[in-house]
Amino acid sequence: MALVTGGSRGIGAAAAHALAVDGWSVALTFRTGEREAAEVVAAIEAAGGRAVALRADVTDPAQASAALDDAREALGGPVLGLVNNAGVRDDDLAVSLDDERWQRVIDTNLTAAFRLVRDALRPMIRARFGRVVNIASVVGPRANAGQANYAAAKAGLIGMTKTVAVEVARRGVTVNAVAPGFVRTALTADLPDEVVDGVPARRAGTPGEVAACVRFLASDDAGYVTGSTLYVDGGLSA
Ligand SMILES: NC(=O)c1ccc[n+]([C@@H]2O[C@H](COP(=O)([O-])OP(=O)(O)OC[C@H]3O[C@@H](n4cnc5c(N)ncnc54)[C@H](OP(=O)(O)O)[C@@H]3O)[C@@H](O)[C@H]2O)c1
Repeated sequence: MALVTGGSRGIGAAAAHALAVDGWSVALTFRTGEREAAEVVAAIEAAGGRAVALRADVTDPAQASAALDDAREALGGPVLGLVNNAGVRDDDLAVSLDDERWQRVIDTNLTAAFRLVRDALRPMIRARFGRVVNIASVVGPRANAGQANYAAAKAGLIGMTKTVAVEVARRGVTVNAVAPGFVRTALTADLPDEVVDGVPARRAGTPGEVAACVRFLASDDAGYVTGSTLYVDGGLSA
Protein backbone atom coordinates (compact mmCIF):
# COMPACT_ATOMS: atom_id res chain seq x y z
CA MET A 1 0.00 0.00 0.00
CA ALA A 2 1.24 3.49 -0.86
CA LEU A 3 0.73 6.85 0.83
CA VAL A 4 0.81 9.96 -1.38
CA THR A 5 0.85 13.27 0.47
CA GLY A 6 -0.98 16.14 -1.19
CA GLY A 7 -2.81 13.72 -3.45
CA SER A 8 -5.90 15.88 -3.87
CA ARG A 9 -4.74 17.60 -7.05
CA GLY A 10 -1.88 18.30 -9.44
CA ILE A 11 1.16 16.03 -9.42
CA GLY A 12 0.05 14.16 -6.28
CA ALA A 13 -3.32 13.23 -7.78
CA ALA A 14 -1.61 12.03 -10.98
CA ALA A 15 0.88 10.00 -8.93
CA ALA A 16 -1.95 8.39 -6.95
CA HIS A 17 -3.66 7.38 -10.22
CA ALA A 18 -0.43 6.02 -11.71
CA LEU A 19 0.38 3.93 -8.63
CA ALA A 20 -3.16 2.55 -8.55
CA VAL A 21 -2.82 1.47 -12.19
CA ASP A 22 0.26 -0.50 -11.13
CA GLY A 23 -1.77 -2.31 -8.47
CA TRP A 24 -0.90 -0.27 -5.39
CA SER A 25 -3.71 0.46 -2.94
CA VAL A 26 -3.35 4.19 -2.38
CA ALA A 27 -3.97 6.43 0.61
CA LEU A 28 -3.87 10.05 -0.47
CA THR A 29 -3.72 12.90 1.97
CA PHE A 30 -5.09 16.40 1.66
CA ARG A 31 -5.08 19.42 3.94
CA THR A 32 -8.03 21.47 2.65
CA GLY A 33 -9.17 19.87 -0.61
CA GLU A 34 -11.63 17.30 0.72
CA ARG A 35 -13.93 17.38 -2.32
CA GLU A 36 -11.03 17.17 -4.77
CA ALA A 37 -9.51 14.28 -2.83
CA ALA A 38 -12.84 12.42 -2.88
CA GLU A 39 -12.96 12.89 -6.67
CA VAL A 40 -9.48 11.39 -7.04
CA VAL A 41 -10.55 8.39 -4.93
CA ALA A 42 -13.71 7.97 -6.99
CA ALA A 43 -11.75 8.05 -10.26
CA ILE A 44 -9.26 5.45 -9.00
CA GLU A 45 -12.10 3.20 -7.83
CA ALA A 46 -13.96 3.63 -11.13
CA ALA A 47 -10.83 2.36 -12.88
CA GLY A 48 -10.82 -0.73 -10.64
CA GLY A 49 -8.29 0.45 -8.06
CA ARG A 50 -8.42 0.88 -4.28
CA ALA A 51 -7.96 4.23 -2.60
CA VAL A 52 -8.83 6.27 0.45
CA ALA A 53 -8.52 9.99 1.20
CA LEU A 54 -7.22 11.13 4.58
CA ARG A 55 -7.16 14.65 5.97
CA ALA A 56 -3.71 15.43 7.35
CA ASP A 57 -1.69 18.61 7.55
CA VAL A 58 1.78 17.13 7.09
CA THR A 59 3.40 19.94 9.09
CA ASP A 60 1.61 18.67 12.22
CA PRO A 61 3.61 15.65 13.48
CA ALA A 62 0.55 14.10 15.15
CA GLN A 63 -1.57 14.35 11.99
CA ALA A 64 1.23 12.97 9.81
CA SER A 65 1.77 10.02 12.11
CA ALA A 66 -1.99 9.42 12.30
CA ALA A 67 -2.14 9.38 8.48
CA LEU A 68 0.29 6.43 8.41
CA ASP A 69 -1.81 4.59 11.02
CA ASP A 70 -5.11 5.45 9.32
CA ALA A 71 -3.80 4.35 5.93
CA ARG A 72 -2.76 1.00 7.41
CA GLU A 73 -6.17 0.58 9.04
CA ALA A 74 -8.19 1.64 5.99
CA LEU A 75 -6.33 -0.39 3.38
CA GLY A 76 -4.63 -3.15 5.39
CA GLY A 77 -0.92 -3.88 5.52
CA PRO A 78 1.95 -1.48 6.10
CA VAL A 79 2.80 1.54 3.97
CA LEU A 80 5.47 0.17 1.63
CA GLY A 81 5.32 3.07 -0.83
CA LEU A 82 5.67 6.68 0.26
CA VAL A 83 5.43 9.65 -2.08
CA ASN A 84 6.33 12.89 -0.33
CA ASN A 85 4.57 15.27 -2.68
CA ALA A 86 2.82 17.88 -0.51
CA GLY A 87 4.49 21.20 -1.14
CA VAL A 88 3.99 24.95 -1.08
CA ARG A 89 5.63 28.09 -2.44
CA ASP A 90 5.88 31.43 -0.70
CA ASP A 91 8.15 33.52 -2.89
CA ASP A 92 10.02 36.70 -2.16
CA LEU A 93 13.51 38.05 -2.65
CA ALA A 94 15.81 37.08 0.21
CA VAL A 95 16.06 40.67 1.46
CA SER A 96 12.30 40.65 2.14
CA LEU A 97 11.73 37.03 3.13
CA ASP A 98 10.64 36.96 6.77
CA ASP A 99 11.15 34.09 9.21
CA GLU A 100 7.54 32.95 9.09
CA ARG A 101 7.53 32.47 5.31
CA TRP A 102 10.96 30.84 5.39
CA GLN A 103 9.83 28.41 8.07
CA ARG A 104 6.46 27.51 6.51
CA VAL A 105 8.11 26.37 3.29
CA ILE A 106 10.89 24.48 5.08
CA ASP A 107 8.36 22.83 7.42
CA THR A 108 6.08 21.67 4.60
CA ASN A 109 8.56 20.80 1.86
CA LEU A 110 11.40 19.35 3.93
CA THR A 111 10.77 18.65 7.62
CA ALA A 112 7.39 16.99 7.05
CA ALA A 113 8.90 14.77 4.36
CA PHE A 114 11.74 13.71 6.66
CA ARG A 115 9.35 12.80 9.48
CA LEU A 116 7.22 10.65 7.20
CA VAL A 117 10.29 8.90 5.77
CA ARG A 118 11.59 8.19 9.27
CA ASP A 119 8.26 6.83 10.47
CA ALA A 120 7.60 4.78 7.33
CA LEU A 121 11.04 3.13 7.17
CA ARG A 122 10.73 0.58 9.98
CA PRO A 123 7.86 -1.40 8.41
CA MET A 124 9.61 -1.22 5.03
CA ILE A 125 12.83 -2.60 6.53
CA ARG A 126 10.83 -5.35 8.26
CA ALA A 127 9.19 -6.22 4.93
CA ARG A 128 12.58 -6.02 3.17
CA PHE A 129 10.80 -3.94 0.56
CA GLY A 130 10.03 -0.26 0.36
CA ARG A 131 9.81 2.57 -2.13
CA VAL A 132 10.20 6.21 -1.13
CA VAL A 133 9.86 8.91 -3.78
CA ASN A 134 10.39 12.52 -2.75
CA ILE A 135 9.08 15.20 -5.08
CA ALA A 136 11.85 17.76 -5.24
CA SER A 137 12.33 20.40 -7.97
CA VAL A 138 14.87 21.72 -10.45
CA VAL A 139 14.87 24.71 -8.10
CA GLY A 140 17.36 23.91 -5.39
CA PRO A 141 20.03 22.26 -7.50
CA ARG A 142 19.39 25.30 -9.77
CA ALA A 143 18.92 28.92 -8.67
CA ASN A 144 15.60 30.73 -9.02
CA ALA A 145 15.44 34.31 -7.81
CA GLY A 146 12.67 34.82 -5.27
CA GLN A 147 12.68 31.22 -4.01
CA ALA A 148 15.45 30.99 -1.39
CA ASN A 149 13.11 29.16 1.01
CA TYR A 150 11.79 26.77 -1.66
CA ALA A 151 15.29 26.16 -3.09
CA ALA A 152 16.71 25.42 0.36
CA ALA A 153 13.89 22.97 1.08
CA LYS A 154 14.16 21.14 -2.24
CA ALA A 155 17.97 20.97 -2.18
CA GLY A 156 17.66 19.66 1.37
CA LEU A 157 15.15 17.06 0.20
CA ILE A 158 17.61 15.80 -2.43
CA GLY A 159 20.40 15.64 0.17
CA MET A 160 18.15 13.78 2.59
CA THR A 161 17.10 11.39 -0.19
CA LYS A 162 20.70 10.41 -0.95
CA THR A 163 21.73 9.83 2.65
CA VAL A 164 18.66 7.84 3.66
CA ALA A 165 19.04 5.82 0.45
CA VAL A 166 22.50 4.59 1.44
CA GLU A 167 21.35 3.88 4.99
CA VAL A 168 18.67 1.43 3.85
CA ALA A 169 20.00 0.17 0.51
CA ARG A 170 20.89 -3.26 1.97
CA ARG A 171 17.32 -3.70 3.15
CA GLY A 172 15.50 -3.74 -0.17
CA VAL A 173 14.27 -0.18 0.37
CA THR A 174 14.92 2.43 -2.31
CA VAL A 175 14.77 6.19 -1.76
CA ASN A 176 14.74 8.48 -4.77
CA ALA A 177 13.71 11.97 -5.78
CA VAL A 178 11.83 13.24 -8.81
CA ALA A 179 12.65 16.82 -9.77
CA PRO A 180 10.04 18.45 -11.99
CA GLY A 181 10.69 21.61 -13.92
CA PHE A 182 7.70 23.75 -14.86
CA VAL A 183 4.38 21.89 -14.61
CA ARG A 184 1.02 23.64 -14.95
CA THR A 185 -0.86 23.09 -11.66
CA ALA A 186 -2.51 25.25 -9.00
CA LEU A 187 0.98 25.82 -7.58
CA THR A 188 2.14 27.57 -10.76
CA ALA A 189 -1.18 29.15 -11.80
CA ASP A 190 0.20 32.67 -11.26
CA LEU A 191 3.22 32.19 -13.54
CA PRO A 192 3.07 33.60 -17.07
CA ASP A 193 3.15 31.37 -20.17
CA GLU A 194 6.49 32.98 -21.07
CA VAL A 195 8.16 30.76 -18.46
CA VAL A 196 8.32 28.06 -21.14
CA ASP A 197 10.55 30.28 -23.29
CA GLY A 198 13.44 29.25 -21.02
CA VAL A 199 12.60 25.54 -21.25
CA PRO A 200 14.43 23.67 -24.04
CA ALA A 201 11.25 21.64 -24.79
CA ARG A 202 9.33 24.97 -25.11
CA ARG A 203 6.35 23.68 -23.17
CA ALA A 204 5.24 22.96 -19.64
CA GLY A 205 5.31 19.40 -18.35
CA THR A 206 2.14 17.62 -17.31
CA PRO A 207 1.37 16.03 -13.95
CA GLY A 208 1.05 12.72 -15.80
CA GLU A 209 4.62 12.97 -17.08
CA VAL A 210 5.89 13.44 -13.53
CA ALA A 211 3.63 10.66 -12.25
CA ALA A 212 5.05 8.23 -14.83
CA CYS A 213 8.48 8.69 -13.23
CA VAL A 214 7.06 8.16 -9.76
CA ARG A 215 5.39 5.01 -10.99
CA PHE A 216 8.66 3.68 -12.40
CA LEU A 217 10.64 4.44 -9.24
CA ALA A 218 7.98 2.67 -7.16
CA SER A 219 8.01 -0.40 -9.38
CA ASP A 220 9.89 -3.69 -8.98
CA ASP A 221 11.80 -2.80 -12.13
CA ALA A 222 13.48 0.11 -10.30
CA GLY A 223 14.90 -2.07 -7.52
CA TYR A 224 18.52 -1.11 -8.30
CA VAL A 225 17.79 2.62 -8.60
CA THR A 226 18.37 4.36 -5.29
CA GLY A 227 19.67 7.73 -4.14
CA SER A 228 18.91 9.13 -7.58
CA THR A 229 17.18 12.28 -8.67
CA LEU A 230 15.18 11.92 -11.85
CA TYR A 231 14.73 15.27 -13.60
CA VAL A 232 11.44 15.74 -15.46
CA ASP A 233 11.99 19.20 -16.80
CA GLY A 234 12.01 19.35 -20.60
CA GLY A 235 15.78 19.82 -20.53
CA LEU A 236 15.81 22.80 -18.15
CA SER A 237 18.62 21.44 -15.98
CA ALA A 238 20.63 19.90 -18.83
N1 LIG B 1 4.04 22.43 -10.47
C1 LIG B 1 5.36 22.57 -10.69
O1 LIG B 1 5.80 23.23 -11.65
C2 LIG B 1 6.33 21.92 -9.76
C3 LIG B 1 7.69 21.98 -10.10
C4 LIG B 1 8.62 21.39 -9.27
C5 LIG B 1 8.21 20.76 -8.13
N2 LIG B 1 6.90 20.71 -7.81
C6 LIG B 1 6.54 20.03 -6.56
O2 LIG B 1 5.54 19.06 -6.82
C7 LIG B 1 4.74 18.89 -5.65
C8 LIG B 1 3.28 19.00 -6.02
O3 LIG B 1 3.07 20.27 -6.59
P1 LIG B 1 1.79 20.65 -7.49
O4 LIG B 1 2.30 21.52 -8.55
O5 LIG B 1 1.00 19.44 -7.80
O6 LIG B 1 1.05 21.60 -6.43
P2 LIG B 1 -0.51 21.79 -6.05
O7 LIG B 1 -1.38 21.54 -7.21
O8 LIG B 1 -0.56 23.10 -5.35
O9 LIG B 1 -0.75 20.62 -4.99
C9 LIG B 1 -0.12 20.66 -3.74
C10 LIG B 1 -0.71 19.57 -2.88
O10 LIG B 1 -0.03 19.63 -1.62
C11 LIG B 1 -1.00 19.67 -0.59
N3 LIG B 1 -0.48 20.36 0.59
C12 LIG B 1 0.08 21.58 0.66
N4 LIG B 1 0.42 21.85 1.93
C13 LIG B 1 0.07 20.78 2.66
C14 LIG B 1 0.16 20.44 4.04
N5 LIG B 1 0.68 21.29 4.95
N6 LIG B 1 -0.30 19.25 4.44
C15 LIG B 1 -0.83 18.39 3.55
N7 LIG B 1 -0.96 18.63 2.25
C16 LIG B 1 -0.51 19.82 1.81
C17 LIG B 1 -2.20 20.35 -1.21
O11 LIG B 1 -3.37 19.98 -0.48
P3 LIG B 1 -4.50 21.05 -0.05
O12 LIG B 1 -4.90 21.78 -1.27
O13 LIG B 1 -5.56 20.21 0.51
O14 LIG B 1 -3.83 21.97 0.91
C18 LIG B 1 -2.18 19.75 -2.60
O15 LIG B 1 -2.80 18.48 -2.61
C19 LIG B 1 5.21 19.95 -4.65
O16 LIG B 1 6.11 19.38 -3.73
C20 LIG B 1 5.93 20.96 -5.53
O17 LIG B 1 6.92 21.67 -4.82
C21 LIG B 1 5.94 21.28 -8.60
